[in-house]
Amino acid sequence: MSDKSVAGFSKMGKNQKIDWVNTAYGNGNTSISTTLKTFWVDDPMLQKTIDGFSENTVSNFIMPYGLAPNFLIDGQTYCVPMVIEESSVVAAAAAAAKYWQERGGFKTTILGMVKVGQVHFIWDGNSDLLKSLFPVLEAELRKGAADITENMIKRGGGITEIELLDFTDKEPGLYQLRAHFETCDSMGANFINTVLENFATTLENFFFNHQEIPDHYRDVNIIMSILSNYTPLCVVRSEVSCKISELGTFANGMMADQLAEKFRMAVRIAHIDPYRATTHNKGIYNGIDAVVLATGNDFRAIEAAGHTYAARDGQYKSLSHCEISDGIFRFWLDVPLALGTIGGLTSLHPLAKNTLDILGNPSAEQLMRIVASVGLAQNFAAVKSLVTTGIQSGHMKMHIMNILNSLQANEAEINATLQFFEDKTITFAGVRDFIHNQRNIS
Ligand code: MEV
Repeated sequence: MSDKSVAGFSKMGKNQKIDWVNTAYGNGNTSISTTLKTFWVDDPMLQKTIDGFSENTVSNFIMPYGLAPNFLIDGQTYCVPMVIEESSVVAAAAAAAKYWQERGGFKTTILGMVKVGQVHFIWDGNSDLLKSLFPVLEAELRKGAADITENMIKRGGGITEIELLDFTDKEPGLYQLRAHFETCDSMGANFINTVLENFATTLENFFFNHQEIPDHYRDVNIIMSILSNYTPLCVVRSEVSCKISELGTFANGMMADQLAEKFRMAVRIAHIDPYRATTHNKGIYNGIDAVVLATGNDFRAIEAAGHTYAARDGQYKSLSHCEISDGIFRFWLDVPLALGTIGGLTSLHPLAKNTLDILGNPSAEQLMRIVASVGLAQNFAAVKSLVTTGIQSGHMKMHIMNILNSLQANEAEINATLQFFEDKTITFAGVRDFIHNQRNIS
């Protein structure tokens, strides 16, 4: 085994893991171990909790936790925490929130709260027989899962529908049980997966025991049981609208009607061209992911669902829509968001809990409304910049501090640079040369 490989790594203590990585992958000094330890939190219990979220943990990766205030959503004003490493996202969300606060705010609608789980299996018997026995099977599936669903039913959720899908035209013997679930304020992944694995056992027993199944077809091959992260029935709409005349005026003297039409066209382009749609939707997820992360929800699941939803009619398109009609500018976003406000990391991670406190401890539905509105705000801010000033001037104004920090600029250098670039195009090379010149002069 090379000295870069290791056996029994997961069994090592944290310090041992750090010493090992420092020796195997460091360059002879202790910088790796020092850096890793610098980011430990002082409170050992808290550090233990954070370590427990994942495996082989040796440090914490810090991300900025920002606040975007003035989000007026369905008549209530929120200050929204956002966790993101990209400069100008939080500023853009806050600016769009303020802009729409002065124009009636965001109005939201829950279009559905249903989540989906699947059991995929192979069975070689007669599909008509299986379909005719399905009502009996369904009753057995529900009965078999009754202990697991009891509490969820008391909370107002549970299994709402079970279907049998026949894929035998695509693959011999392939079927799917597709179940619909309501999981109230929890994201519901553990609940759904537990129910599905129970379904799989019931399915095996059904084929083994049911008198109408011919003896030579008693075997069923369960391929897998897992929830689907595609949640086209768990969708929220957030929208903003106002008279075009109320949109105001914009950079470079652009008038409201010009802005409205250019903006509508920019959204339209994201419906026509998948290359643009991907960037357009990425801008939406700048906002969505940042809030989802701040609440301890699973941003990968949220993104995966959104991108599939964006391609639901066969071509990847914008998740947002814009319409100009009778002098009214209307901009809205329909987005699948299977979020939880109880369970998972939402109360375990102290900052996730803090986020939910700041948001007034919302229900899952309320959180969907908030998250979609931040996504829409982010999209509004990005598209507005693109069709007016271009994205770089605002972005680089926010990014200049990162450049200055990377050049280890002192306070005097920072002030001089900010003043110098006030009315100039900011680039890394430009800032670097300016700082070098300053240093050479003094
Ligand atoms: C950058 O993170 C996001 C944007 O590219 C989004 C967009 O182009 O709409 C600005």
